[in-house]
Amino acid sequence: MIKAFVFDAYGTLYDVQSVADVTEAAFPGHGALITQIWRMKQLEYSWLRSMMGAYEDFWAVTRQSLAYSLDVLGLEPSATLIDEIAEAYNCLTPYPEAEAALAALSGYRRAILSNGSPAMLDALVGRSPLAAQISTVLSVDEKRAYKPDPRAYDLVQERLGVAPSEVVFVSANGFDIAGAKKYGFRVARIARVPAAALRAEIGAGPVGPATLFKALRSQLEGLGYAPDFEVSSLTELARLPGVAPAAH
Ligand code: LAC
Repeated sequence: MIKAFVFDAYGTLYDVQSVADVTEAAFPGHGALITQIWRMKQLEYSWLRSMMGAYEDFWAVTRQSLAYSLDVLGLEPSATLIDEIAEAYNCLTPYPEAEAALAALSGYRRAILSNGSPAMLDALVGRSPLAAQISTVLSVDEKRAYKPDPRAYDLVQERLGVAPSEVVFVSANGFDIAGAKKYGFRVARIARVPAAALRAEIGAGPVGPATLFKALRSQLEGLGYAPDFEVSSLTELARLPGVAPAAH
């Protein structure tokens, strides 16, 4: 029986591409490349830090990956400007359907499990209309291990008191989908970029940074852990088999 829906934050409820206006305003002509390298490196640094046993929180990871991105482009920002640009991650735009889709699941526990630090998630969720629809925000920070490390997913059982099989874990991030499925959750993938659309985009060429990012990060990983459900928007979650309609 499904008791809880647990959501990834960045890229699932909140659009990480929405930092593009800030990166472009700070460095005109470079925003697209900065935005994509930054997100790719942010995730890589989270995995590397977990594997190296060198945990630093996601705010540090977000700033360090931004500094890397600017450095490869030969841009020399001040520490203040790094902070100002990184702040964009605390003001991401929720996906347009997110609020109503969460409301349609009001019969269930609805939580976020994110790599974001507690301060980042307070800022991000607290400022957005999604706050009213989420009962619990869990940061992996207390485990000092990033998803897809199983210790990060342990927080769901520990803090919500539900078994993995009673959880639908929702993510658009391939690594998170694979990790959550391996862990034992029921997993719903939000397929924001259909494979056919991506192929058409690549075929139309030339392949720019946003298309390369989609090719690397928006598709299902080939790791052997397929999700239980695949939907194209959060709205479809309320129509999954075994999900009861919200009471009005
Ligand atoms: C998160 C990133 C991984 O919210 O998307 O945890």
